Amino acid sequence: MIPALQDGLLGWYAREHRDLPWRCTTDPYAILVSEVMLQQTQVARVVPRYEAWLERWPGEDALAAAPRAEVLGAWVGLGYNTRAVRLQAACTVVARDGWPRTAAGLRALPGVGPYTAAAVASFAFGERVAAVDTNVRRVAGRIGRGTPDELLGADAAAWNQAMMELGATVCRARDASCGTCPVADWCASRGQVAVAPRAPAGARERFEDTNRWVRGRVIAALAAGGELPDAIAPDRMRPALEGLVREGLVVVDGSGARLA
Ligand code: ADE
Repeated sequence: MIPALQDGLLGWYAREHRDLPWRCTTDPYAILVSEVMLQQTQVARVVPRYEAWLERWPGEDALAAAPRAEVLGAWVGLGYNTRAVRLQAACTVVARDGWPRTAAGLRALPGVGPYTAAAVASFAFGERVAAVDTNVRRVAGRIGRGTPDELLGADAAAWNQAMMELGATVCRARDASCGTCPVADWCASRGQVAVAPRAPAGARERFEDTNRWVRGRVIAALAAGGELPDAIAPDRMRPALEGLVREGLVVVDGSGARLA
């Protein structure tokens, strides 16, 4: 730990951070919801969905008691539907047993990996543990002064938020803005980050061409009470539907397909 680096980053975070709703709470449920949503979706899209979710299901008891089809329906557009199912499963365990108050205990909950466990443990329970996602790993790697665990300061919650904020707004994957970086003076990679150009649009797979997109369309249609979308070719529909059935999200029987 380098005190001047710590002070530089924490001072910058205190001045510059974005006001995001999950940063004004220490409620473990609210924090878990935000972290699961943020795993696959951008902050700007998560904010309104997060607020609506908490209005509808304000705590783990409410979410645990909700019909699963409603939970899946409310997740439409946030991607990877199994995350909604696991979030509900985690809340069912917590509603019965109470909140584990450490990262190690939180990791035993369904769908809660090391990053999410550390985020909830530090933000909700003040545990001194580094929350290491791709962004934080990249930022620490560029700084080159130790692993995220070694850089961690006394206030893990503030430090974790600050590292995430730096990775999201300054030290980004494709654009390290070293000129405005609060820790540039201590950074081994200052001004040297070589960023590979993004593949041209034509060379990238369009989201509409992916199996994930088909799965999303199926869940959205069934959650809205409709039939399987018929505009999707059978050779794309079949694997998507088979996967959803295998994972227990959708049931297909004599009367058609519906959410499980
Ligand atoms: N991405 C993942 N977790 C986040 C958080 N707590 N704040 C902002 N962006 C995030």
